[in-house]
Amino acid sequence: MPITYCDQSRTFHLDTVNTTYVIGLSPEGYVGHIYYGDRLFGEVDNSLLRMEEKPFTPSVNPGNKGAFLDCFPMEYPTGGIGDYRESCLDVQGPSGSRGCELLYESHQIFAGKKKIPGLPASFGQEDQVETLEIVCRDQVLGLKAVLSYSVFYKEDIITRSVRVENQGAEALRLTKVYSACLDMDNEEFEYITLQGSWARERHIQKGKVAYGRQSMSSVRGESGHQVHPFMALVTPGTSQKQGRVYGMHFVYSGNFMAQVERSQFDTVRMTMGILSDEFSWKLEPGETFHGPEAVLVYSGEGLGRMTRNLHNFYRNHMIRSSYCHKKRPILINNWEATYFDFDTNKLLDIAREAKEHGIEMLVMDDGWFGERNDDTTSLGDWVVNEKKLPGGLKYLVDQVRALGMEFGIWMEPEMVSPDSRLYREHPDWAVQIPGRTATQGRNQYVLDLSRQDVVDYVFDSICKVLRSADISYVKWDMNRQMSDLGSALLGRDGQQELFHRYILGVYELQERLTAEFPDLLLENCASGGARFDPGMLYYSPQIWCSDDTDAIERLAIQEGTALIYPLSAIGAHVSVCPNHIVGRVTPFETRGHVALAGTFGYELDITKLTEEELSQVSEQTAMYHKYNDLVREGDYYRIASWRENGLYDCWECAAADGSEILVTYVQVIAQPNVRSRKIYLEGFEAQAVYELEGAGHRYTGEQLMKYGFLVPACAGDFVSRLFHFVRIEG
Ligand code: DGJ
Repeated sequence: MPITYCDQSRTFHLDTVNTTYVIGLSPEGYVGHIYYGDRLFGEVDNSLLRMEEKPFTPSVNPGNKGAFLDCFPMEYPTGGIGDYRESCLDVQGPSGSRGCELLYESHQIFAGKKKIPGLPASFGQEDQVETLEIVCRDQVLGLKAVLSYSVFYKEDIITRSVRVENQGAEALRLTKVYSACLDMDNEEFEYITLQGSWARERHIQKGKVAYGRQSMSSVRGESGHQVHPFMALVTPGTSQKQGRVYGMHFVYSGNFMAQVERSQFDTVRMTMGILSDEFSWKLEPGETFHGPEAVLVYSGEGLGRMTRNLHNFYRNHMIRSSYCHKKRPILINNWEATYFDFDTNKLLDIAREAKEHGIEMLVMDDGWFGERNDDTTSLGDWVVNEKKLPGGLKYLVDQVRALGMEFGIWMEPEMVSPDSRLYREHPDWAVQIPGRTATQGRNQYVLDLSRQDVVDYVFDSICKVLRSADISYVKWDMNRQMSDLGSALLGRDGQQELFHRYILGVYELQERLTAEFPDLLLENCASGGARFDPGMLYYSPQIWCSDDTDAIERLAIQEGTALIYPLSAIGAHVSVCPNHIVGRVTPFETRGHVALAGTFGYELDITKLTEEELSQVSEQTAMYHKYNDLVREGDYYRIASWRENGLYDCWECAAADGSEILVTYVQVIAQPNVRSRKIYLEGFEAQAVYELEGAGHRYTGEQLMKYGFLVPACAGDFVSRLFHFVRIEG
């Protein structure tokens, strides 16, 4: 059994194949965190709670309860009663004052896992996941909090969430509800987070955990380009293969907080949840608030193990789409090819040429509806522009289908342009503050998805488009951050609920869309990669990773993204050079190799490519078919990072059974007068014999992993090589 309770020591043991998490109760019923780390096979006591030490627990030393609360390792700390570290739950009671104290009441352990109403969350069969629910209560408030822990044994993952129920007679106000907390002794921890901006999302950042609080948060209404709802604490010297790693990842697409706090006693508290700024939630008697899920992962074998655990977990227990384990059609998207300047003929020219070279789907991007010839107009008016597409959508789609290709379409359902029929008819449907001219972002407003009538309208508009033609794919875009938080319907008391209610509206829309069109391939996107998070993955098996398609910038973006997400989820395309964003010129081959480590597709005007480039497109589409199973399903190993070494990048996709391994090597900067470079590969069967395809050389797995593999010296910046090893013996 992955979860056990020992009545004598009042401890819960949560085991995965390689890890153990131990929770213990104090005599009063405080729920304490005892241990998270390498798997423990024997009994453990609760001495790590330090209850035998001064200041002792409140039942022994009631006069110094504050000192106890300020150092006890809490599973779910509450605010206002004497724990001065970051709290997870803050509640304003009927008197208006804030204070909450949770004590254990009961627990249950069951096979499987419950859904979280209205929210994306991981799932699993009864033989794949087991759940512990610890029920706690604040007697004064009449508040019940259920701490939920789901143990995914095989993937070494524990997910946490909380639900809070008002069982009292008067309304309560929740001013903070985080999802997870991890209290540990500091071990000179460093933190790893993912930082960035538009066109350079999710770069890996490392820093030493200093005294005080180091927090990463988004208040933009989206998980964001700038920060990411992920944090890991690692011991000094952690590498891909060594070191202890504690990761936390939030299954949520709106405002969040990821924080580590180092205390006066050299403990650390890692917390994650919905950002409490701009959040408060009125909980009437009988009502329940459900917090989003947080994913916890521990690896005692460095970052590589954490990465592979998360990849397996997301592929098997978060992405619901039937496309998750399927090869996706190779698409060509017209955004960088034409921007807004296209018509049916132009799109068909692109489709015809694309088809010739193995591309399987045409995606029509922004600009096909209303009067939209630039970004100043028409969002919300999802009616085809017949000046651009004479004969309508159906005619175009039928023509594309007749070529033997699939068709995909871009939409931005959450937005409205001030210059649109929709806004003129329903100005109150936009998020804005009465009496104040709302700030525009990319000339647009955000629709108030906290309103059911708006959600229903948006859903109907999407359905109308999708039913009007044979459409296989939707790129769901979202191109501005939120501001001017005001909803016409939420009233004075409810305005602080808008951010969260908005995200619940987005989730409802995507839930209904995927239920209504189960075969639809949905790709989420937000001005590039501003909403690349596990919440979105629940609805769409792939997410557009960044508007930056430059192969070299992509190395850093995709390294950071692949640290926690499977390659099958990472939207990646080949585009033209000079690159539209950075102006860099890289070989066509390198652009193909880098996009191969994602969903793979094109974002260019194929009718303008040279004959040589066109023949490379044919080679690349064949390469995609050859390797996609391995890339999509294989184990990912980061071999070298050009961010760290300044010279070259290297990663691998290895079949889980060690039968074949694909190594991608990119020489970013060439050096003069150098010899071949030795790299150590991973994921091979040590005693098996492998052949390097195309070269005929044979190697044992052990040789490649321990002795090293020599990458021949080559000339030129930004050049890349693929090495494909196939097991031939053993
Ligand atoms: C932002 C997306 O990231 C781009 O790929 C493109 O779809 C534009 N929006 C269209 O407005």
